[in-house]
Amino acid sequence: MKWLPGVALSIMGLFVVLQAVARIWSRLSPRPCPGEISFILENPLRRRVLSAAETLKRVGLKEGMTALELGPGPGFLTVDAARMVGDLGRLVCLDIQPRMLAQLKKKVGDQSVRNADLVLGSANALPLADDSLDLAFLVCVLGEVPRNDEALRELRRALRRGGILSITELIVDPDYSTRKSVVAKGEKGGFSHVETLGNFFYYTINFRKD
Ligand SMILES: C[S@@+](CC[C@H](N)C(=O)[O-])C[C@H]1O[C@@H](n2cnc3c(N)ncnc32)[C@H](O)[C@@H]1O
Repeated sequence: MKWLPGVALSIMGLFVVLQAVARIWSRLSPRPCPGEISFILENPLRRRVLSAAETLKRVGLKEGMTALELGPGPGFLTVDAARMVGDLGRLVCLDIQPRMLAQLKKKVGDQSVRNADLVLGSANALPLADDSLDLAFLVCVLGEVPRNDEALRELRRALRRGGILSITELIVDPDYSTRKSVVAKGEKGGFSHVETLGNFFYYTINFRKD
């Protein structure tokens, strides 16, 4: 077993190098997380360490809400989110990549989710009516969206007065944004900062449209 620390160190080293490469790559060539590697978002370790239920508890979804999941990807959070808003609520899942939506469609079909609308679209031009949402949430998405100020304007338009914008970030995401920068962007976008939950590595910031 003398080799164990060496192997553990090598794995950690490889992880750090891969993270550095991914971060540099995403800065040099910003684009949405490719559908081909969506399995990374669905990995069982994530489910064990940071469950969808735990994240959604922070987001504050409630029964009967009309909510937007912006950038659901293959749906790590979608089934739980749809169940939280329940039959009286509605979950709009909007993603810019058809490939992600195709995977999501299969997942919600397999799980018999009936209160989710899958929409192909961009955060920068939301195909949603003014004041139509109670809550909008983004998990590991904000850093991938170009022109954040424009997207936040769109989110503000689509939320009703008193509606909640919830942004969650995870350090292992190559497009991770710091808490300070997210609070600054939200406030600049006209939202009031309500609370920051979690820590540097994995946090959720909730804003309100006053
Ligand atoms: C890193 S994945 C996160 C997926 C999911 N939220 C999760 O935590 O597992 C980011 C998702 O945001 C979507 N996305 C990126 N830019 C977008 C944009 N401008 N408008 C809508 N969706 C976008 C991507 O297609 C991708 O599905």
